[in-house]
Amino acid sequence: MKTAIVFENVTKSYPIYHHITSGFKNLLLNLPKALREMKSQSFTAIEAISFSIQKGETVAFLGKNGAGKSTTLGLIAGVIRPNEGQVNILGRVSPLLELGGGFHGDLTGIENIQLNGVLLGLSRKQVAEKINSIVEFSELGDFINQPVRTYSSGMMARLGFSVVAHLDPEILLIDEVLAVGDAGFQRKCVAKMQEFKQQGVTIILVTHSSADVERLCDRVIWIENHRIKMDGPTQQVLPIYNSSNG
Ligand SMILES: Nc1ncnc2c1ncn2[C@@H]1O[C@H](COP(=O)(O)OP(=O)(O)OP(=O)(O)O)[C@@H](O)[C@H]1O
Ligand SMILES: [Mg+2]
Repeated sequence: MKTAIVFENVTKSYPIYHHITSGFKNLLLNLPKALREMKSQSFTAIEAISFSIQKGETVAFLGKNGAGKSTTLGLIAGVIRPNEGQVNILGRVSPLLELGGGFHGDLTGIENIQLNGVLLGLSRKQVAEKINSIVEFSELGDFINQPVRTYSSGMMARLGFSVVAHLDPEILLIDEVLAVGDAGFQRKCVAKMQEFKQQGVTIILVTHSSADVERLCDRVIWIENHRIKMDGPTQQVLPIYNSSNG
């Protein structure tokens, strides 16, 4: 089996920005000290995480709000970099990260499809060839010609997934988008992901839906307090996760 993703002791932290509690005058008088204190404080989103994922595996990241799941996906997608450790990705990544991330509110659905298609690696010609099929998959009707700032969250998810469904991914990242789609669209997304799975695409899913994990994923990595709590086959990890979060 070939490796697709390797994390070795990966830590990601964000600086913490403080309110000026001791007054603006004090801050100015003690500027070097104040700046040093501001810089030294940070918040760890994930801490010394290690795992490796083989090509063709379907893996769910589970964990509470704020655990570090989206941070992990952002590191796989390459949109953020680790402070410490190594991230190695072998393959073309097609990310569908948190809602509306890649969209521009003032552009229409069609324009966003064109922009995102190219950003995600399609040629202009490929986008032109696929655009009708993408629009049809989204079932957005006339809204496709409206600016996306007028879209509901479910409509955003439809637009995002429709683009991703027409890419040729080796590694597919899906963060929480199924949840806001209606039942019909969720079924369609799951079917498309099952098709990708059969083609041997590596799939990484972040979701709070156990049903989706059971339907799609062979393996679960459970993140708690910014570290891996459990990593193993779905049938082994999911019941324990569910009983501890029920
Ligand atoms: N840009 C940022 N600046 C500062 N802190 C951040 C930033 N992004 C994430 N964090 C913090 O890192 C931690 C992990 O966030 P992350 O988005 O990875 O969680 P998550 O597991 O995806 O949660 P959720 O289920 O709510 O989507 C959180 O405590 C969050 O506040
Ligand atoms: Mg998240």
